[in-house]
Amino acid sequence: MAPMPISDVKVGHIDDVQELKNTKSPQIIPERFIRDSTERPKLDKTIHPSCNNIPVIDFSKLCNGNKDDFCSEIFKIKISCEEWGFFQVINHEIDLELLEKIEKVAMEFFMMPLEEKKKYPMSPGTVQGYGQAFVFSENQKLDWCNMFALGLEPHYLRNPKLWPTKPSDFSETVEVYSREIRKLCKNLLKYIAVSLECNEDVFEEMFGVAVQAVRMNYYPACPRPDLVLGLSPHSDGSALTVLQQGKGSSVGLQILKHNTWIPVHPVPNALVINIGDTIEVLTNGRYKSVEHRAVTHREKDRLSIVTFYAPSYEIELGPMQELVDDSNPCKYRRYNHGEYSKHYVTNKLQGKRTLEFAKIN
Ligand code: OGA
Ligand code: NI
Repeated sequence: MAPMPISDVKVGHIDDVQELKNTKSPQIIPERFIRDSTERPKLDKTIHPSCNNIPVIDFSKLCNGNKDDFCSEIFKIKISCEEWGFFQVINHEIDLELLEKIEKVAMEFFMMPLEEKKKYPMSPGTVQGYGQAFVFSENQKLDWCNMFALGLEPHYLRNPKLWPTKPSDFSETVEVYSREIRKLCKNLLKYIAVSLECNEDVFEEMFGVAVQAVRMNYYPACPRPDLVLGLSPHSDGSALTVLQQGKGSSVGLQILKHNTWIPVHPVPNALVINIGDTIEVLTNGRYKSVEHRAVTHREKDRLSIVTFYAPSYEIELGPMQELVDDSNPCKYRRYNHGEYSKHYVTNKLQGKRTLEFAKIN
């Protein structure tokens, strides 16, 4: 087969990846999506399974009353947060039907015609609605992804104009789903606190009314997954992120460990949890907000539903006293979380660059 041309001026200015398949040459990747050679994913590199074990936490063992079970899962949480910044949770008590339902409404939303989705536009400089977040210049490369995001809690974050009326059960499903995920986040933060040998309510007491947002990411199949990224490398600005990988999706999420991109293989019915920048700062770097990205697949599309859980914008935060001493000098300054969030959403995704905001040199 002759090598496929990688760019074609005739494609013009299409920046909605789902619409590309309706163009005259759907096999051609528009220039704006083609990454510089240093950024392209090396998809042929196989990773040995033994270095590919993102820890799996059995949530039921944390609440069954058995002390040994509890201690061993808490220890696993500690190791996960120190060494991976990621873990998966199974037996999380969230109804599996609800997980299916949120995937169903999300897919129905993304499959609607563009005109329908454009009724909920993401305005420039904001992160709610349908569109491409974190794009600030014409020269910036675009991710092979469509996003739809909503602020959920506290209620003042909600923009009712951005809540879709189609599919008809979308809003209600998001509402129920986010209540369940919120409970899970609160519980996980308790266990994370215990794993640090802190009072279990330490985060809850600090956070005020926590901010919660959801983002649905849809990654269409891509004829040249070797040239594009589904989502640029970044760390999350949250305290904790809960990511649901769509059933039947391709493997797409990758995390950076020892300079190698490691794929996160979906575990059936598990939720992927990762530490965000806030916990990294609060723990003075002991728990890591690890850089991650998404890659695409030649034949399969992929959906992820991502919840960000973070402190109230009003709070001031910095490393907790308990985690700063002579051998662990303070790495981050104190700052207002609202300012950090603003800084995060007004800069392009670029690895762990956003956390420079708080770093003490
Ligand atoms: C995110 C994210 C990865 C994915 O939305 O912050 O990291 O697999 N998503 O969709
Ligand atoms: Ni992320």
